[in-house]
Amino acid sequence: MIRYCKNYSNYIKHHFKRNCSTKTTSVINILKLPNAGEKISVKGWVKAIRKQKENVFIDLNDGSTEKKLQILIPHKCVPKGLSTGSSISADGILHFSPKGQIELSTENINIIGPCSVADGYPIAPKKHYSPDYTRQYPHLRPRTKIFSSLLRVRSEAVLAINNYFNSRGYVYIHTPVLTCNDCEGAGEVFKAIPDNVNLLKQMAKEETLLEEAFFDKKVFLSVSGQLHLEAAAHGLSKVYTLGPTFRAENSRSRLHLSEFYMLEAEVAFLDKIEDVMVIIEEFMKNVTKTLLETCESDIQVCREKTVDMSWVNKNFAVLDYDEAVDILRNNRQKFKDEFYEQSGISKEHEIFLVHYCGDIPTFIINWPKAIKPFYMRECEGDNEKVAALDLLAPGVGEIVGGSLRENDYNKLKEKLPEAGAKLDWYLDLRKFGGVPTGGFGLGFERYLLFLLGINNIKDTLPFPRWPHNCNL
Ligand code: 4AD
Ligand code: MG
Repeated sequence: MIRYCKNYSNYIKHHFKRNCSTKTTSVINILKLPNAGEKISVKGWVKAIRKQKENVFIDLNDGSTEKKLQILIPHKCVPKGLSTGSSISADGILHFSPKGQIELSTENINIIGPCSVADGYPIAPKKHYSPDYTRQYPHLRPRTKIFSSLLRVRSEAVLAINNYFNSRGYVYIHTPVLTCNDCEGAGEVFKAIPDNVNLLKQMAKEETLLEEAFFDKKVFLSVSGQLHLEAAAHGLSKVYTLGPTFRAENSRSRLHLSEFYMLEAEVAFLDKIEDVMVIIEEFMKNVTKTLLETCESDIQVCREKTVDMSWVNKNFAVLDYDEAVDILRNNRQKFKDEFYEQSGISKEHEIFLVHYCGDIPTFIINWPKAIKPFYMRECEGDNEKVAALDLLAPGVGEIVGGSLRENDYNKLKEKLPEAGAKLDWYLDLRKFGGVPTGGFGLGFERYLLFLLGINNIKDTLPFPRWPHNCNL
């Protein structure tokens, strides 16, 4: 017999309806629509306690906002063991303090989970901790003011990105995490095999290697969803994805993660690199303006340094790769790392180029074919260059990589990597109703680093992974 949740209607009544006697209300709702005289119940974590003669003042936060609700309780009603860090519920009446601030007056606080700093809780009240310190406690840092603001901005940014692409007719595609191709061809893939030797032995066919037994081939974690997006764009015209991406780079720099999120878009019937640049510029400005409005106070909380946002109303700068090289050559003496043309543009050079262009996001376009992946389309009239772009951000360097894709069947066949047999399907896209396409990938964490003026990319996502670190 089917059973139904009898308490469902009660639940709705207590949590959502405004006319029931006591409901749990989020701090953000209380502060947004302060309603003196209303009887409410709140739940959250104690951020600070101040004792006065007769009363005790408690700052409560529940993660719905960076702000705190002040709770006023007589000394005699304070439950034993109340300390900062504890989770509590409190029932009482809202009223305005003499300073005009909304506060909750209560005689009834219930400790849900006690918390003792003496027992090793690493976050003391009212102390400012450096990101290096809180990063040691990835499971506890969502309780800190700065990091909870970061997580809310991150969540809003995903929403803004989805709204942006949805409202312009793009279809969201779930590109796979498990894949048999190394899209970028940079040898930075992680291999994925079951951690069960007996299973692999059972599954292995005569000639297959044990590590290939599960899928009958080597399988990796995706370094980019681009090739799958291209397949989707050949039927849906405008597609995008925002998903986890994995790169086995042995870099612990402030800009590299082993697992990060990438926003990728791919558009069919598009054959100028300028068209890709227009999409990127419009998207970046639109999403950023939305976030500056919707998350203004959270953004202020997590900013580590002042960020000049005037770029959202300016045109992005554009440099040809050759122009960029000329600028670097003429400024050689200014770099710590010497500039050699054959070693390409380093992070220091990227940051210099953006500064040179007036500290606005700067596209570098038309790159030498030899240093870019196989799928990029040759520039018209110069077969040593490809129609590729990097977008460099002030103080950060590269945040977007993109290009037109080679849609000439024969040219692409020639350029396929040695293990090209696996990419027959990719060639098929050019054989059956092929169209020119172009697209790009934005490193989501690098974008947040730029937006928020954060120094280290490891502080832009909840559970960062980097070489020698995969905690939790
Ligand atoms: O420039 P990339 O390698 O481009 C691609 O993967 C293309 N297939 C995207 C496409 O055209 N659909 O990577 C795109 C962006 C970089 O510009 C950078 O912002 C970010 O991904 N990125 C990283 N972010 C954090 N940690 C790393 N290790 C990163 N590697 C790349
Ligand atoms: Mg790149």
